[in-house]
Amino acid sequence: MVPLVRAAQPADLPAIARLAGELVRLHHGFDADRFMSVRNVEAGYARWFAKELDNDQAVLLAAEGDGGEIVGYAYGRLEPRDWNALLDAHGGVHDVFVAPEARQKGVARRLLEALVAALVEKGAPRVLLHTATANRAAQRLFRALGFRETMIEMTYTPPRR
Ligand SMILES: CC(C)(COP(=O)(O)OP(=O)(O)OC[C@H]1O[C@@H](n2cnc3c(N)ncnc32)[C@H](O)[C@@H]1OP(=O)(O)O)[C@@H](O)C(=O)NCCC(=O)NCCS
Repeated sequence: MVPLVRAAQPADLPAIARLAGELVRLHHGFDADRFMSVRNVEAGYARWFAKELDNDQAVLLAAEGDGGEIVGYAYGRLEPRDWNALLDAHGGVHDVFVAPEARQKGVARRLLEALVAALVEKGAPRVLLHTATANRAAQRLFRALGFRETMIEMTYTPPRR
């Protein structure tokens, strides 16, 4: 399978939202105190991505399998300067997810290469992403694509009263 990576269309949104729901649950499973979980998150994602399809600062890509089914997606957008993070304008890679049956075939690599290229084409002078500490596979993927580690996030949970 050589997946077709292309701009997402409105008809793709139910399938992309299902994958986004999996991404949310994966992270909640890594650390439920840090990564929130929302009921029926798929509906929220479908609404949000429908808006982002009309946003020229955003990029939503779909990977299509041989039968036309959506096997993965990637989402990012241009983000403004953030003084608190000492972070100037940049492209943010926010989501990448490949369906389990389509993994280890280069789908994420193709999605991310296309997403980064699109963000750079839109003017991003740098591209950043955040990845869960526990997510070693994703870190390996991002390193293989030239991303380097630049920040460590730490979370404190107060004792329950
Ligand atoms: C991480 C994920 C996106 C990788 O998708 P994929 O299509 O299987 O990745 P690719 O086949 O394009 O792999 C590209 C590179 O990533 C790394 N990689 C991918 N999966 C890996 C795994 N399970 N273990 C270790 N490294 C892995 C490898 O460096 C690989 O290159 P190689 O095959 O030359 O060794 C996929 O496993 C996934 O959707 N996981 C759940 C969601 C997720 O973690 N998203 C990232 C959130 S920050």
